[in-house]
Amino acid sequence: MTWYMPTLTVALAACIVIASSQSIQGADECTSAGGYTLCQNLAEDSGSGFVGEGQGIQMSTHFRSTPSSVEWGTDYEWKVEDFTTVKSFANVESNDAAGLRLDNLPTIAATWNWNYSSRAENMKSAVLFDIWLGHTPERNNGSSHEVQIWLSFTGGAKPIGERNATIYDLAEHDWELWRGTNGTTEVIIFSNPEGEDLSTFNEDMGSFFEYLVDKADIPKASCIQSIQAGTMVFGGRGTFHTSLYTLWIEYPDFEPAFPV
Ligand SMILES: *[C@@H]1O[C@H](CO)[C@@H](O)[C@H](O)[C@H]1NC(C)=O
Ligand SMILES: *[C@@H]1O[C@H](CO)[C@@H](O)[C@H](O)[C@H]1NC(C)=O
Ligand SMILES: *[C@@H]1O[C@H](CO)[C@@H](O)[C@H](O)[C@H]1NC(C)=O
Ligand SMILES: *[C@@H]1O[C@H](CO)[C@@H](O)[C@H](O)[C@H]1NC(C)=O
Repeated sequence: MTWYMPTLTVALAACIVIASSQSIQGADECTSAGGYTLCQNLAEDSGSGFVGEGQGIQMSTHFRSTPSSVEWGTDYEWKVEDFTTVKSFANVESNDAAGLRLDNLPTIAATWNWNYSSRAENMKSAVLFDIWLGHTPERNNGSSHEVQIWLSFTGGAKPIGERNATIYDLAEHDWELWRGTNGTTEVIIFSNPEGEDLSTFNEDMGSFFEYLVDKADIPKASCIQSIQAGTMVFGGRGTFHTSLYTLWIEYPDFEPAFPV
């Protein structure tokens, strides 16, 4: 599928670039970033702290944004012994994706240009979209599925669950499909099988949702509760930078049922 951004909207958006960079360091700290929200999401432990507490530090920065695009990054150093558990998922979440329904899905065009400007040898991480689906629009009302799209993984990071299928030529790439559970939520993961970084991703997300409905038994009446894009870190040191992220949501123009 092809898509384009209306030039007028882009030109208008470009006039209101927010250029003051802002950093966050707290475990659950978030900051507004144009049409997105940037959060650190350090993984909570079973007590009142977080998993890597006392063993590392992470700082995420919103560099600049418009209502449709954002530049952001995250810097971390986790000196942990346990590389099996997730320490953080710094990400940007689109403020407009919540509540979209799979049976009336607009075009959702994602552009994501990212890069590790530095990384330690032992760094273990993945770069992914994390999408929550449910029967109702609000995520805090419970989710039925968590869908991830892994664009990159390094240091032995591996999707949860079992490998279920190989998918050829979906959104211009091949994928391994993994399926598992996380509590009562079913987890479905599209993983880039080559393990080579998809660092300039520019695709219509609709292909993934079509696959989920047609081939993975996801109910067509499901709602998208959130679309986040970020990096999941298990351990090590790295500097991750997103030079451009946009999630462009657009309903097709209304067309009369009868020619006029
Ligand atoms: C990735 O980061 C390195 C180091 O900062 C830089 O030299 C390179 O141009 C970047 N690549 C892209 C595609 O942004
Ligand atoms: C939450 O879920 C319940 C049960 O499915 C439903 O009755 C209620 O309307 C939902 N609330 C919202 C805000 O979606
Ligand atoms: C893939 O997952 C579906 C649903 O969980 C299951 O019915 C099917 O047997 C799985 N196939 C393979 C090859 O694992
Ligand atoms: C499992 O679900 C919890 C609670 O919704 C979430 O915070 C966590 O990130 C999920 N884990 C994975 C590996 O997706």
